[in-house]
Amino acid sequence: MDDEKSSPACVLAHMDVRRAWTRYLGPMSTQFEEGTTLDRFLLETMHAHPEARGQLVTLLKQVALAGKLVSARVNRAGLAGMFGATGSMNIQGEYVQKMDIYANEAFKRALEHAGVLCMMVSEEEDAPVRIPERFACGDYVFCMDPLDGSSNIDTNASIGTIFTIFRRRSPAGHGTPEDVLRPGTDIVAAGYIVYGAGTVLVLSTGLDAGVHGFTLDPAVGEFFLSHSDIRLDATTRTYSCNEAYAAQWDPRLRTWLDGLKAPELGWSARYIGSLVGDVHRNLVKGGLFLYPPTAKAPSGKLRVLYEAFPLAFLCEAAGGAATDGERRILEIVPTTIHQRTPLFLGNRDAVEAVLGALRG
Ligand code: AHG
Ligand code: MN
Ligand code: MN
Repeated sequence: MDDEKSSPACVLAHMDVRRAWTRYLGPMSTQFEEGTTLDRFLLETMHAHPEARGQLVTLLKQVALAGKLVSARVNRAGLAGMFGATGSMNIQGEYVQKMDIYANEAFKRALEHAGVLCMMVSEEEDAPVRIPERFACGDYVFCMDPLDGSSNIDTNASIGTIFTIFRRRSPAGHGTPEDVLRPGTDIVAAGYIVYGAGTVLVLSTGLDAGVHGFTLDPAVGEFFLSHSDIRLDATTRTYSCNEAYAAQWDPRLRTWLDGLKAPELGWSARYIGSLVGDVHRNLVKGGLFLYPPTAKAPSGKLRVLYEAFPLAFLCEAAGGAATDGERRILEIVPTTIHQRTPLFLGNRDAVEAVLGALRG
């Protein structure tokens, strides 16, 4: 691994950490042969914010722990009897898979006791999750899709966990609706963990703090910095959508997408049907993801709080854009915790072209 590129100094250069670090501690070096651990990265990010009380670092470390548990279970799902559906449906009318339940429980158990959350929201839970009385409440709200792309579990395709973190607005105790029903511009950190050929945690702690990816080394059970300061490649021409629904889309969008197929434009298509997998590929390589409204899902399929918000946040932090077709995703103020939205996100010029097409 390239020392210069993977050192925390490079990653955090935008925060002026490098100068401060060099002055007090000497030049930074890579922590181990494998690189820089997630824990070191989080601590250094915290040190750059003297007012921080450490709750966000604790929270993100527990997220990484739950991610390791889910990753291990995903890797042996076929052996552990974890393929297939439970037979029940969630409040959103979707069949719940066994791994959905496992992931939901793993994240809840890892996070509820740490004294850093006042509330959780999960795709798998009808109502906000209350922190049990025996544990302390903390400063943050955690919204998650514990396992995204669960229809892909049985086929070993990429799946993932997606999360949004807000700092609470209410003063103390358990969280209230105002702590969670708020615009995405309030997000303090967002990320996902993709369980694919490898397990990668992608994180941003601010729209101007960059997007950084950490790959799990299963041999030692640690996440190491592997993708520092991810920027969307604006030259990539890849689109991702379920084109089988095109007849149900706004005809202006259909016409625009058909126009991309002119061979001289050089566009290509990639769609897994796992939002986290499709967006991870687009973040690393560049591209455009689309989930427009359809007849079956007239308000779109994807959920604002734990699918659209975190991925829009990462996309913007990586130099891209995200819209629902009319407004910036991060400016939506949801009125219910499982609210859905149409979603178009990726390279800024491609998102602007979609908006232009929809305006006619
Ligand atoms: P989830 O598994 O959390 O319910 O999410 C499924 C979502 C998302 O991962 C993906 O982008 C989308 O469903 C795919 O939907 P279609 O099958 O309609 O293309
Ligand atoms: Mn999902
Ligand atoms: Mn899910």
